[in-house]
Amino acid sequence: MTAEKSHPPIDTSRPHSARVYDSLLGGKDNYPVDQAVAERLPIEAKIGARQQRSFMNRATAWLAGEGVTQFLDIGTGIPTEPNLHQTAQEINPSARVVYCDNDPIVLRHAEALLVSRPEGVTDYVHADVREPDVILDAARKVLDFDRPIALSLLGLLHFLPDAEDPIGIVRTFTDAMAPGSYVVLSHGASDVDEEIGQQSEDEYQKGGIRLALRSRKEFSRFFEDLDIVEPGLVEAPEWFQGTDAPTPEKSGLYVAVARVP
Ligand SMILES: C[S@@+](CC[C@H](N)C(=O)[O-])C[C@H]1O[C@@H](n2cnc3c(N)ncnc32)[C@H](O)[C@@H]1O
Repeated sequence: MTAEKSHPPIDTSRPHSARVYDSLLGGKDNYPVDQAVAERLPIEAKIGARQQRSFMNRATAWLAGEGVTQFLDIGTGIPTEPNLHQTAQEINPSARVVYCDNDPIVLRHAEALLVSRPEGVTDYVHADVREPDVILDAARKVLDFDRPIALSLLGLLHFLPDAEDPIGIVRTFTDAMAPGSYVVLSHGASDVDEEIGQQSEDEYQKGGIRLALRSRKEFSRFFEDLDIVEPGLVEAPEWFQGTDAPTPEKSGLYVAVARVP
């Protein structure tokens, strides 16, 4: 595991996005402060969390089926089965997966992410996406950047305001990746239901967590210079490549998969 040996402390006095998300998914690795935020969020947040996991698995299965054997997942979250490496290695047992998150509680649970098939590899990097070079240096120990890699940032970019240059951060990663690599993104929408979006931002803010939802047009800017694959930039249940049945529920979660030319 590429992480410091002494685990940083877990602050249970303030909500954290990984634990709020775990609470939304019905997980047990969260505290009353996190549950309080999750309970105040609109029901669409719960629906969106489930849809996000489902999209992650559909997109990963599709990519593995397309022959992608290397995955870099940033903002991994607390393990929730099936995790990305399980889906990828089910299809390609020799898949190599690097996970990364900056939350100490995810680090504590990283062992569950490291149970690889013997033919494959999983690794965990404790780092902040705002330091892409740190992540790239660690990932290079496990992944071959001269061959295609699928980079996923799911439910993460809406925690980065424009001032932190999330588009530039994603570009730093894609610039380091070989042609034929893929980027898999999901992002909370500000314009699917503006009232629900505002309510979500307000409730996160009360817990001290900045949520920066973006419109479809704003989200599309992450894909400039990339080739978005079918079915395009859509709401999560509409991203369908024949591996699962879409659900009709609306959650306001945009997703897309794009190829690095
Ligand atoms: C909503 S969860 C999504 C988890 C997972 N990707 C999924 O889709 O199920 C967002 C994750 O991003 C992580 N995160 C938030 N800010 C981050 C940062 N600056 N660097 C790395 N990870 C971050 C949180 O700790 C959390 O685990």
